[in-house]
Formats: sequence, C-alpha cells, structure tokens
Amino acid sequence: MFHYSGNDLYCEQVPLADLARHAGTPAYVYSRQTILDNYRAYDQAFGDLPHAVCYAVKANSSLAVLALLAQAGAGFDIVSGGELFRVLRAGGDPSRVVFSGVGKTADEVEYALSSGIHSFNCESEAELALVDAMAARRGVKAGFSIRVNPDVDAATHPYISTGLNRHKFGIPMAEASAVYERARRLPHVAAEGVSCHIGSQMLDPSPILEAVDRVLSLAAQLRAQGDPIRHVDLGGGLGVAYQASERTPAIGPFVESLAARLRSSGLKVMVEPGRSIAGPAGVLLTRVLYRKKNGHKEFVVVDAAMNDLIRPALYRAHHDILPVRRNALPPVTADLVGPVCETGDFLARDREMANAMPGDFLAVATAGAYGFVQSSNYNSRPRAPEILVEGAQYRVIRRRETYEDLVRGETV
Ligand code: LLP
Repeated sequence: MFHYSGNDLYCEQVPLADLARHAGTPAYVYSRQTILDNYRAYDQAFGDLPHAVCYAVKANSSLAVLALLAQAGAGFDIVSGGELFRVLRAGGDPSRVVFSGVGKTADEVEYALSSGIHSFNCESEAELALVDAMAARRGVKAGFSIRVNPDVDAATHPYISTGLNRHKFGIPMAEASAVYERARRLPHVAAEGVSCHIGSQMLDPSPILEAVDRVLSLAAQLRAQGDPIRHVDLGGGLGVAYQASERTPAIGPFVESLAARLRSSGLKVMVEPGRSIAGPAGVLLTRVLYRKKNGHKEFVVVDAAMNDLIRPALYRAHHDILPVRRNALPPVTADLVGPVCETGDFLARDREMANAMPGDFLAVATAGAYGFVQSSNYNSRPRAPEILVEGAQYRVIRRRETYEDLVRGETV
C-alpha cells in the first residue's frame, strides 16, 4: 500500500509529503489496509482447518492496531502483563489470548488468570508449577502448552533465532513428554497443546516445517499417553522483504504448506505472526536536517535516530530508504544518520540513496514491526507519533510526546 504516483510516495491514497508537513517528523505511518490484508492472508489460507491467528503483540502494540485486528477476529500472543492490558484496552477477546515468555511473574500469571486467557505457553517446569499454584488459589484450571525447543536452526540473525538447545527458550524436545507426564499430577493445569517458536525474520520457511513435523509427532505421542492435546502452536517467524530486491515467502502458500501437514492430525493450529502482519504496513517518516562531508564520506543527517528505530544499530538491519518526493538528482552514497550522540546512530550505512536535500522527507521502509515498540527516550528525545492511514484519511493514533511527557512520574 506504499507506492509512487508520479514522483510522490503514497500510503494508500495519502501523499506522504502532505502527511509529513501536517504531522511533523519523525513519525510512524501505518496502512490499515496492509495490516488487514496480511492478517486475512493467514486467516483465509487456513481455510476450514480449525485455526487461530494470534497476532504477536510485541511487533506493534498500538491500541488502534490491536483494535483493528481484534475486530477482524484475531487472537493475540502476549509476553507480558502490559501487553495483556493493551489487548483488553483495545477490545481484544481474552479467551483468544496465549501467554508466551520465559519469565512470567506471579503478578502476571494472576492477571492472566483473572482475565480468563486461553492458555499459557510454559517455558519451564517451575513456571508450570507456579501457574498450577496460582490457579489453585482462584479455584480454576489453567490450560497450558509446553513450549518445546525443537532444536532446529532458524538460520536467521543470532539475536532472533530461538530454536536451538543453547537458547534460553522452551524445554528440550527430549524432555517434554516427561514434563507433560509430571504435569498430570498438577490438579489445576490441563495440557491443551504443544507450542514452539524457532526464530524470527525467516526467509526460508523450511525450518518451520521441520519443527512442525517434530511438534506433531510429540503431540501424537502425548495423545497416545492420554493427554487431551487439542492444538499445536507454531509461533511466528515468517520474514518480510526489507529490501525491494529480497524474495520472501508469501503468507498464503506458506500457510497452505503448514495446513497440508496438519490436516490429518485432527488438531487445531495456532500461529503467532507479528512481523509479517505489521512490518510491511509501516514506514518511519523523517526530514533531512543537514548534508555534510567528513573527508570523502557523505552524511545525510535526519531528524529520526536510533531511539526511534533501533533495528539498524542493534541488528545491522537493512531498511530501504525511499524519497518521499523523487527528484532529478543522481543518487548519492552516504550514511543516513540521526542526532543521537553515538557512532551507532545510523539508519543506513554506505547506502546508495536518493540525493535528498535539507527539508526533503525520506521514508524508512518496512518499519511497521519492531519499530515504534523498540523506541526509547534516549537523549531525552520525545517519541514519535503514530499515524494510521485509511484510504484518503489518516488519524493520529498516538500523539507525539512532549517535554512534559519526558519527565512524567519523576521527582527532583
Ligand atoms: N511468538 C513468540 C513466542 C515470539 O518470541 C515472537 C518473536 C513471535 C511469536 C513473533 O515473531 P515474528 O512473526 O514477528 O517473527 N526485535 C526483533 C524481533 C524479535 C522477535 C522476538 N520474538 C527485530 O526487530 O527483528
């Protein structure tokens, strides 16, 4: 939904130059249609196979985005009490919420139980014991899945690969069935499913398919042992194109290949996609402040920085840089840098890009997931607003922070 018409970059039917002038920069801009299309691509490709698409809230947790997905029928994958609060505030259905994460606190477990979430994806036996004890206090029975670690290599960035035994996540596959067996003696938890998530930004989905086979064979074994396993949760992880030239698996065919493996199992399938729903739906708009040269090196200094989008600094992630209005100048090879006082503060390095001049706007592409949510107030920079485009309209779904916001809750 981001496209050029003439020389102008649009989000749906809104020219981004107009939006940038009215809303100011830096600003995150999301296409409502793209978010919905991506969610529906998952939902529809499963067809009549019993399924739940539990959007991974961590990717983009803005209330308006969550509300949009809730209205479209999505479930949610949360990893904290704060994410549950957001889902509920956005009108999400708690009975469609799964709670993942290695470090759930007693308070978070209590909050999740009192809200009536669907189930816990437990990552250790100690956590399972805590859920049992907290459920006992409330006199309820909590559904759980063990997040198993299928020991397959997701072949992605080491910081976002999670499925190997040396990672902190899950319980090793070989130990899982003994854990389910011991769990049968815990009166306030019920084995609902088996879950896994092996990594993120996977451009080749074959490791996910390999993990599915392992998870399915464990589920079959558990059912044979008498556990009433009803679902498998395959996590998220499908990659998106951060460079226009990159080939990524389309959602529909990927889901169809999952569905083909699952159809005969009689199990419901859950997935927890985040990036592939929200990532391509957003850009970060920024304005060129200065051009400068240090020796032979060109710098384009913009008003967005690593505090707004940390992915390039943290993962050396590539995001395409698009001119909001194309000009006739030859491209330039430069570093796109922000005002933060760190050498690591760059949005692109040694990149051939549009020869943008002070006052021009640029769009940092594919910033809808893990963008705003990982932003901070570092260097006491107020966080950017978020704007949702719908057709020819747009609305500010989170206003720009003020200096007062920066000190809220502090005392001298
Ligand atoms: N389920 C679980 C249990 C997860 O840990 C994650 C992501 C997801 C689902 C969603 O995965 P996705 O479909 O978005 O790939 N900050 C990093 C990404 C960290 C992903 C962490 N877990 C980045 O900016 O690339």
